[in-house]
Amino acid sequence: MNVALQRPLSAADLNFNPARLPLDRLVDFAREHWGIAGDFTPLEGERDQNHRVTVGDGTSYVLKVSAAGESEGAVDFQVAALRHLERHAPELPVPRVIASKAGKDLEWIVAADGARHMLRLLSWIPGMPVSECGPLTVQALRNVAAFQARLARGLRGFFHPHGRHFVAWDIQRALLLDPGVQAWVADDAKALCADFNARLKREVLPRLPALRAQVVHSDGHADNLLRAAPESDDIVGVIDFGDMVHAPLVQDLAVTLASFARHGEMSLDNAVAQVEAWNAVLPLMDDELEVLHDLTLLRLATALALYDFRIHATEKPAAWLTEERPGIVRALSKFLSLDREEVHDRYRAACGRVGRAPASVDIEGLRERRGRTLGPSFRLFYDRPVHLVRGEGTWLYDADGRRYLDCYNNVASVGHCHPHVVGALARQAATLNTHTRYLHDNVVRYAERLADTMPGDLRVCYFVCTGTEANDLAIRIARVVSGQEGVVVSDDSYHGNSNVVGAASTCMYPKSEQPAWLATVPPPNGYRGEYRYGTPDIGLKYAAKIDAAIAKLEERGEGAAAWLCDVIFDSNGTILPPKGYLEYTARAIRAAGGLFIADEVQSGFYRTGDEMWGFRYADVVPDIVTLGKPIGDGHPIGAVITTPAIAEKFAAKFSYFNTFGGNPVSAAVGMAVLDVLEREGIQQNVIAAGKVLESGLAKLDAKHPLIADVRGKGLFWGLEIVRDHATRAPAVAEADRIMNLLREDGFLLGRTGAFDNVLKIRPPLVFTPDNARMLLEGLDRALERV
Ligand SMILES: Cc1ncc(COP(=O)(O)O)c(C=O)c1O
Repeated sequence: MNVALQRPLSAADLNFNPARLPLDRLVDFAREHWGIAGDFTPLEGERDQNHRVTVGDGTSYVLKVSAAGESEGAVDFQVAALRHLERHAPELPVPRVIASKAGKDLEWIVAADGARHMLRLLSWIPGMPVSECGPLTVQALRNVAAFQARLARGLRGFFHPHGRHFVAWDIQRALLLDPGVQAWVADDAKALCADFNARLKREVLPRLPALRAQVVHSDGHADNLLRAAPESDDIVGVIDFGDMVHAPLVQDLAVTLASFARHGEMSLDNAVAQVEAWNAVLPLMDDELEVLHDLTLLRLATALALYDFRIHATEKPAAWLTEERPGIVRALSKFLSLDREEVHDRYRAACGRVGRAPASVDIEGLRERRGRTLGPSFRLFYDRPVHLVRGEGTWLYDADGRRYLDCYNNVASVGHCHPHVVGALARQAATLNTHTRYLHDNVVRYAERLADTMPGDLRVCYFVCTGTEANDLAIRIARVVSGQEGVVVSDDSYHGNSNVVGAASTCMYPKSEQPAWLATVPPPNGYRGEYRYGTPDIGLKYAAKIDAAIAKLEERGEGAAAWLCDVIFDSNGTILPPKGYLEYTARAIRAAGGLFIADEVQSGFYRTGDEMWGFRYADVVPDIVTLGKPIGDGHPIGAVITTPAIAEKFAAKFSYFNTFGGNPVSAAVGMAVLDVLEREGIQQNVIAAGKVLESGLAKLDAKHPLIADVRGKGLFWGLEIVRDHATRAPAVAEADRIMNLLREDGFLLGRTGAFDNVLKIRPPLVFTPDNARMLLEGLDRALERV
């Protein structure tokens, strides 16, 4: 590597000091040397003092004044590159160098303080920076990459002695590894890059000098690429040649991928589309494809290191540094969490190299094998089952690459494959995984953090692996503590699948088979239950049903150990407990010597927006809270949270061990989910998207007679579909058809309720207001067609 590339970075490298020549001098100078006069408008410039000059016929130019002390070689490098492009790639819309009257590309001016500055005049490229145009379509992203490839092709064969000059942003410098810079890098960035740095030194940097190299633009950035109009996908020009450097050709594509990942266009699909578009113009070689992903990561890490260096090592860091930094962290986390093999395979496939055998798309064959090996109990959704192979945020992708908006899966609470969660999982899995009979910090910290979200004395956590296990243990604790056996649940309840909890899941088997220790209450369904909307004290009327259930258990000699309540009544078609309901039932079960178990598997983690836990809408603190599904963003975690007093009574008779529950990996995942909930505005998103659903569903209710009742809050909604509003006859076949029509239209949702006629909307918590609007349009279409 060249000496210039390796010199240490200093604050002076980043403290640019653009010239500040008085305007009248520039006006005179431009007239004298280029013969132009017109309107001078100052333009932003980090290194140069820039003006747009518009002359009488409307033609515009850019007059650039270099900073005092700027290297003549660096400026000549840019001028020569533009001259090269003018000759060898005249079709490319890049600025043209306008020679002075004396035929020179550069003129020198002496400022009042005696400092000498270089002046250049360039043609003006019309267009608006891509960064000012809002979200990009995939086609626009492809056009960006194709444009950069054309530019790189145009620069092929261009040589300049200054090509190996010092550019802080240059990926080859691997700035993050520079000890002088590292001292300034924030801890989160260091942690993020710790593993990556080691691999970089070992595997990536040594390969760079052997790659095909040339002068590259190295700044295919949304601020530098221009579009004709905000809606246009076409790239009509590029500006800023200040980061140009002699480097591996593939570096230019890595910079482009990293730049657009930083600006929110961060899916692997988008990156693949850009790689494909670049390759179509300037085919990539195998060894370039092998390092492309790592170079993209390295560019993001370099950006992070530079931002941190600037924030900490310069006197007055600009506000945009701290504003843009989280976007870089997000993009880097995301790209670090991708499976490198998969990225590599997809990049290769995009460039026409033979990839891995495609995932099985023989749906019928897979379905048949599944039936044979898993047996008939495991049901599939949809007439045409969906074969999913990938998920990201609120999107799911099938084996044919079709994407579906996930409106159903609460388990992927903070979004499918959230990079922070996946990263936490991967890091801990690569460090240690074992059980809870050894001391480990993770499980303790996780228990403390979960307990902090609970009211009252709820601060002892038992970690398990599923909601079923949580409810099973909760019932066991209640039985031990109360000395009684009976359990009250609602009709058509669902709490899990173990022997005990399966029996407490009354929606899963005939009522005649219910055991003697079980008694049920009707759910507080104001649409089709005994008491309808508008009944005074409807909550208390439904709640009082528990008295008869408890009496039944006492008559049978079972006694009442627990009232186990899914506080959003998911399997009953989504019902928010009416006012007074939970308070009354909790009091009643306690009066009978039993415990109130709030099953938060469905309602927990801000599902309904205003509160983190469903029971918090009522004035009640449960004796036991059970958690599952959304707690681990897809990783199997469950928890039972109770009071020290109850835990002690249980421990007096039983010890408890769960091989996998509370292991360091699960605890790391659980904490990562809490991090995301705290940092990424999830609650606000649920509230905002929930409001869009609330008003939109009300409009659909008014428009489509098939909808009879809309219930829910936040990101949990049930739509009761009926044949006839008078008889309330459930429209089961129609609900099924709507669900299938939506599947074909790219929306996944479910059905629930005693009759399976309630459409269930329960998406990941990162489902945005825009996602909500898309779903409302999809629902409208399906309801028109059914
Ligand atoms: C309210 C409720 N509790 C418990 C469970 C059981 O959780 P798991 O499937 O993780 O055992 C479920 C699952 O659907 C549920 O909806």
